[in-house]
Amino acid sequence: MKLLYSRDAIASRVAEMGKTITAAYQGKPLTVVVLLNGAMLFGADLIRKIELPIHVDTLAVSSYRKDFSSGEVVLRGSLKLPVGGRHILLVDDILDTGTTLAYLCERFRNDGALSIKTCVLLDKMRKESMQIEADFRGFEIPDRYVIGYGLDSEEEYRNLPDIYVK
Ligand code: IMP
Ligand code: MG
Repeated sequence: MKLLYSRDAIASRVAEMGKTITAAYQGKPLTVVVLLNGAMLFGADLIRKIELPIHVDTLAVSSYRKDFSSGEVVLRGSLKLPVGGRHILLVDDILDTGTTLAYLCERFRNDGALSIKTCVLLDKMRKESMQIEADFRGFEIPDRYVIGYGLDSEEEYRNLPDIYVK
């Protein structure tokens, strides 16, 4: 395993992202939706860097995969908070094919959100098949499989404080 981003590099980038998001949503009712399980660590750190009176919700999502995306998104629950009349920011660990976030944006588009935007810590290099672009991104990375800081390989490694190329 090769170190890609240390916990310090992650923390300083997450702090910057929090500032950007704070500036973008001044005076707006924002609900941050953290996608589980992958974005649990990123989401927990990010919301503490957003200096606004936000609401926080979670959504369990999986996209049936074994180190590669199958393109099939499965919701394992639902939002607990209402979407109507609020700006929604979907927070995920990594944007790969974009299937997950494209599906969720479409899913919530008709539920009355004032806006739906996406925020990812990692964004894999552009692919032609890409269905969506992240509105807020931490790092752009090569198209390699990464683990740690919430990112898993067959459910292992989520608890590593740093991010590695597997
Ligand atoms: P997408 O739907 O193809 O964009 O895939 C997004 C989801 O796949 C993310 O939420 C991750 O859970 C998972 N994923 C994609 N690439 C990686 C990776 O390199 N390591 C760990 N999980 C990944
Ligand atoms: Mg995920």
